[in-house]
Amino acid sequence: MASTQPYQQHYRQFSDNPEQFWREQADLIQWYRKPQTILSKDNNDYYRWYSDGELNTSYLCLDYHIEQGRGKQAAIIYDSPVTDSQYTLTYEELRDQVATLAGGLRQLGVEKGDRVVIYMPMVPEAAVAMLACARLGAVHSVVFGGFAPHELAVRIDDAKPKVLITASCGIEVDKVIAYKPMVDQAIAEAGHKPEHTVLLQRQQCQAEMQTPRDIDWHQLMANAQPADPVAVSGSDPLYILYTSGTTGKPKGVVRDNGGHAVAMRYSMKTVYDVQAGDTYWAASDVGWVVGHSYIVYAPLLTGCTTILFEGKPVRTPDAGAFWRVCAEHNVKVMFTAPTAFRAVRKEDPQGLLLQGQDLSSLERIYLAGERLDPSTYNWLSKHTGLPILDHWWQTETAWAIAGNPAGLELLEPKAGSATVPMPGYQVRILDEIGEPLPANNRGLIAIELPLPPGTLATIWGNHQRFEAGYLKQFPGYYVTGDEGYKDDDGYLYVMGRADDVINVAGHRLSTGEMEEIVGAHKAVAECAVIGVADELKGQMPMGLVVLKDGQDIDPAALSEQLRQDVRSRIGGISCYRTTLVVDRLPKTRSGKILRRTMRQIADGRDYQVPSTIDDPAILDEIKQQLAAASGA
Ligand code: COA
Ligand code: AMP
Repeated sequence: MASTQPYQQHYRQFSDNPEQFWREQADLIQWYRKPQTILSKDNNDYYRWYSDGELNTSYLCLDYHIEQGRGKQAAIIYDSPVTDSQYTLTYEELRDQVATLAGGLRQLGVEKGDRVVIYMPMVPEAAVAMLACARLGAVHSVVFGGFAPHELAVRIDDAKPKVLITASCGIEVDKVIAYKPMVDQAIAEAGHKPEHTVLLQRQQCQAEMQTPRDIDWHQLMANAQPADPVAVSGSDPLYILYTSGTTGKPKGVVRDNGGHAVAMRYSMKTVYDVQAGDTYWAASDVGWVVGHSYIVYAPLLTGCTTILFEGKPVRTPDAGAFWRVCAEHNVKVMFTAPTAFRAVRKEDPQGLLLQGQDLSSLERIYLAGERLDPSTYNWLSKHTGLPILDHWWQTETAWAIAGNPAGLELLEPKAGSATVPMPGYQVRILDEIGEPLPANNRGLIAIELPLPPGTLATIWGNHQRFEAGYLKQFPGYYVTGDEGYKDDDGYLYVMGRADDVINVAGHRLSTGEMEEIVGAHKAVAECAVIGVADELKGQMPMGLVVLKDGQDIDPAALSEQLRQDVRSRIGGISCYRTTLVVDRLPKTRSGKILRRTMRQIADGRDYQVPSTIDDPAILDEIKQQLAAASGA
């Protein structure tokens, strides 16, 4: 095993004096005014980093690099197999587009602190829109293009944007998905109405415009004066990103400017070991945190070339797409979700499409978003011969909580482990009453406060929800919602969620939200939605429903109706397909449904009959019904 010295030394520098450590890391970025106060408390009595520093994130991503002589370097390579097109934006070109759009948004009344919702496909304009908001000190909230209108409406009502930026369509392999009707439907449903919609017309689909609300992107740009970056304070918000919790209402994770910029730069150095000039590719979507952090902000803050890929790991046109992009653009580091490589492996088990591609520039592959199962890890290691590095993080943190610190030293990976805590995170495994557990004991994964820079500052408009959901259970800790253990070498194994959040094809979804939809069906008396293990997508949702007395609806018809209900309310990414009608649901004596035990039964895992169960016989019934359904 490689010496653990450099990592341990660096980690000790952090843990001995976190404030001093993050004071030094603040020098990674060019502040307008350097922060004097490194760590402080805000009005919510929660920690804030660098609150008296001044900066602008768009300046740091663009103008700063141009000042350093990187103006002609590629900032974004747009590679779109679904439209059969490719082009590059240099740092200068990107800065010009961003400054002009920022000027246009200002004409529409957008100022520092105003919110802008961005609902865009994977086109460079999505990044331009994010950076234009950052330039003005406005707060963007990107909503993943796969979400249905209702989900967009919920986010509009919560963020209350002045402007919504969208495009006429997205493209899913060969399907053109018109966005404008969905945007119109969402705005009609929302109580809050954005004053304007800025729309990028794409060749594949012309959207109908409603004047004076809707404004054409190119017209806005043609009439706008470029805007200079506006100085914001370190603790001013850069963005809100909604993520699934255990209830139907998504949580608006608030990210500040200062801590975020420092953490992004620090992670590029320590976790990914890339420098200015390197090409870095996160094959994800700008609507997810991976897209925010590692398609847009971290690579641009570092002066890298980032790739914006509008395609899929398979079918665009085949399972060789990832290797083609890496070879063609000299990618040094690539990052995606394990499910993407499971899809590749399924279509190309022998790795034939990898052969003949020049992958000499590719040094490492990083995976996150869900557990990296050992078989995907082994397949990738065998066929690429490269270090395959799992790392674990969440929308809430924006960067790795645990990973392999390649920039310090490459530790020996262990299959199934996300490796070790990153400097900044004091990771603890706790039992149900909050007592630390010894090595090799599985428990709740918590992080000692304060969390490092870059992590969430609050939940938008609802600090109580932040406290109740993450901080109250064990005072002094942030509770991650994940379970796992550390081995004797301090390696962390993240085994899955302790709550009702599920992960489907790398997409984080709330079973609580699906239960609200399923439970609203007129035939359903009560229901539980659980995440069941799936070979390709990691997990798939399954509904177990008890019918109201006297309902004799055909189970197949019910299943289809519920599939459509969930799809039309959340979107296709919910992947809700299976409903099982059961006689009763297992509960505790206090009436809490035992979802976790059902999940274990459905996955064929060992389970303990909870001591609080009301009627243990129901578990056997469920087991038989699940077995009958999977055999059917
Ligand atoms: N806009 C509209 N619809 C979308 C969409 C988007 N941006 N993204 C997905 N969908 C639709 C899909 O077209 C599909 O529709 P269908 O049911 O009509 O076929 C449905 O939602 C389910 O999508 P998905 O679960 O993604 O399945 P898939 O078969 O299309 O692709 C994978 C499977 C594994 C290839 C794909 O999910 C993937 O690449 N995952 C990686 C996810 C990722 O990057 N996560 C971020 C963390 S790193
Ligand atoms: P998201 O907020 O969408 O990034 O999802 C975060 C959740 O995904 C985490 O809380 C974990 O449950 C899961 N997750 C992300 N990365 C990993 C990983 N490397 N190993 C195990 N689970 C992961």
